[in-house]
Amino acid sequence: MDGSPFDRWLEDLERRHLAELSFAQVRKGLQAVSSLYVERRGRIGAGAVFDGEGKRAAFAIFYGPLHHLVVGRIVAALGAAEPGLSRVLDLGCGTGAAGAAWALAAGAEVFGVEKSGWAASEARRTYAALSLRGGATAGDLLRERLPGRGAGILLGWVVNELETTSRAALLPRLLEAARRGARVLVVEPIAARPVPWWTEWAAAFVADGGRDDLWRLPATLPSVVARLDRAAGLDHRILTARSLYLPGRAA
Ligand SMILES: C[S@@+](CC[C@H](N)C(=O)[O-])C[C@H]1O[C@@H](n2cnc3c(N)ncnc32)[C@H](O)[C@@H]1O
Repeated sequence: MDGSPFDRWLEDLERRHLAELSFAQVRKGLQAVSSLYVERRGRIGAGAVFDGEGKRAAFAIFYGPLHHLVVGRIVAALGAAEPGLSRVLDLGCGTGAAGAAWALAAGAEVFGVEKSGWAASEARRTYAALSLRGGATAGDLLRERLPGRGAGILLGWVVNELETTSRAALLPRLLEAARRGARVLVVEPIAARPVPWWTEWAAAFVADGGRDDLWRLPATLPSVVARLDRAAGLDHRILTARSLYLPGRAA
């Protein structure tokens, strides 16, 4: 253990979420969350991912660190933290893990917006554990004013959860924020079914000077994540994701 902020964050997650639940309960929660994402997507919008202690713990301990690792690797590969940013706005921040990775890399403050009050409070703990300045509020990302130059705007695994009309209204706002200088990063799973809108969004990002990428990233998973992965019958030794990125128009 090197005592890095990442390790301390994971220790804090394990200590808090495994204090009142057994490993088997969290594993069961993980299987339930995974089944929601893969087979029962219709229930996600109603907040089914966070409606039980086991699922909350599984999201925080498992998907949080995975999303942190994936976004950290994508940001590094895209050069999205260079030059540094003053803030990262993490829309649909969940437990704050993904935006925290970009903020750490870019030396930025991080602000999360999240419709689940539980997840927003968990995000505040994530930022504190990683010694990041910023905050997270419970609210609708669609109502958020989008920043311009000096900011990164992240949508991690969330655009697929929006209603079709909301999603359609969001796209031109993201393009406009990038024209005002914001860097915009959208990350989603590689499976095609949750993202039927991808081709249209990718064409719009690329037309504005952006990128459309698929990622397969070999990773050494943190111990608790690897144990849960195996116990739940999953396999995340290769991290996968797709991303859209707009670097933000220069002045
Ligand atoms: C799959 S999770 C991803 C969380 C986080 N971005 C991450 O990478 O770990 C999607 C999150 O988006 C949130 N969400 C969905 N629609 C939202 C909306 N309209 N406004 C704010 N949050 C939203 C959900 O509550 C959930 O926490």
